[in-house]
Amino acid sequence: MATQTIPTRPEFDPFEATFLADPYPFFAAYRQRQPVFHSPALDYWVLARYADVRAAFRDTSLYSAANALSPIQPRTPRAAGIMAEGFGSVPTLTNTDPPVHTRARRIANVAFTPRMVAAMEPFIREMAIHLIEDRLQGGQADIVRALTWELPALVIFKVLGVPDEDVPQVKSWAGNRLIFMFGRTDDPTQEQVAEGMVAFWRYTETLVADRTINPRQDFTTELVQAVDAEGERLRPEEVATVLFGLLLAGHETTTNLLSNGVRRFLEHRANAWEALCAEPGLIPNAVEEVLRFDPSVVMWRRKTKVPVTISGVDVPADANLLLLIGSANRDKEMFSDPERFDIRRANAREHLSFGMGNHLCLGAPLARLEARVVFEELTRRRPGLTLLPEQRLAFHPNISFRGPSSLEVRWS
Ligand code: HEM
Repeated sequence: MATQTIPTRPEFDPFEATFLADPYPFFAAYRQRQPVFHSPALDYWVLARYADVRAAFRDTSLYSAANALSPIQPRTPRAAGIMAEGFGSVPTLTNTDPPVHTRARRIANVAFTPRMVAAMEPFIREMAIHLIEDRLQGGQADIVRALTWELPALVIFKVLGVPDEDVPQVKSWAGNRLIFMFGRTDDPTQEQVAEGMVAFWRYTETLVADRTINPRQDFTTELVQAVDAEGERLRPEEVATVLFGLLLAGHETTTNLLSNGVRRFLEHRANAWEALCAEPGLIPNAVEEVLRFDPSVVMWRRKTKVPVTISGVDVPADANLLLLIGSANRDKEMFSDPERFDIRRANAREHLSFGMGNHLCLGAPLARLEARVVFEELTRRRPGLTLLPEQRLAFHPNISFRGPSSLEVRWS
């Protein structure tokens, strides 16, 4: 049998500052020259093409989601010890495969309904108006700090029944969790990060225990009580695991969608921002184009269950895969003139930014609603918005959740 030379890229370093600041030129080079390669440093196989990323999301017979939440950097023994002692999360939703996933997702769908999402619109609008009018005063502001950092947290916390005053603490734990899953740190920092994970987990467990005894009108209570058509419900540690996920996925992603949106609309001011101010009906498709062009989750993960040939490359069973969503979304096989930001792009919605298939993002309708409402209010209330020129953007130090940590804007 002929042996294959494994395509490798020893220099692949997604933690490196140039890559974090702008991964798109790297993505373009991979797609063109080596769309599937092995990174020996990470021991991950990297997939850059739309068709390959899509197949890895969809085909549950070949690919598993088991590694989706694992730390990308191996744990030090001390950090692993801290986790083993205090962290009780169990694979429930995001990092499970059928039939475990099918059961949990059915129950989550019972609690997280389109009706519940639609009912959030007045609250989202009220919050958006309040933050814009209250914080965007005086002609210049960091819009992340003023608006996009907090609004999605206030929304998901309202949904889950978490008090507003916990926003800074939960946001801080969520940032810590991103470093745990998708960051690279030195050994002492790893231990601090693990301590933060345990504290965050205990907070979530307490919330679930409270709603089990004191039911309220919130998603946490709904999830504790949800029973699917087969009469199944989630165990307390499974409910806590789903909530633990939402306390991160429910706001960090949407913060980045809003920040990336402000950035891209203002970078293309005449064709995007001014068009949206004149014609707000364009906003939903423009949001899809932001998700395509600058996704808030730029990479996600899968494992192979069996040996698979991907774009002609033989990948062994049990191999870790890094799915470059941000690259797939700019594949010319799928999107014409893909490096162009075009709010009127007819197939923008075919991006892979919410994943695809059985794990398709549970919160996508909520994220889309938040983005529509925020951009409706922002274009109406601050049409004179511009980006402060020549600012150097900094990005959160993790390889998956991508958005600027601050964005200075001006308005007249
Ligand atoms: C711009 C905003 C968002 C983006 C880009 C995003 C992206 C993603 C991605 C890439 C996945 C993995 C899909 C897969 O493995 O196939 C996912 C799953 C998930 N997302 Fe989101 N998400 C966003 C907002 C939200 C919000 C607001 C919530 C909650 C309210 C949420 C909850 C979830 C959950 C629970 C899952 C796991 C679903 C499952 O495994 O069945 N997400 N999301």
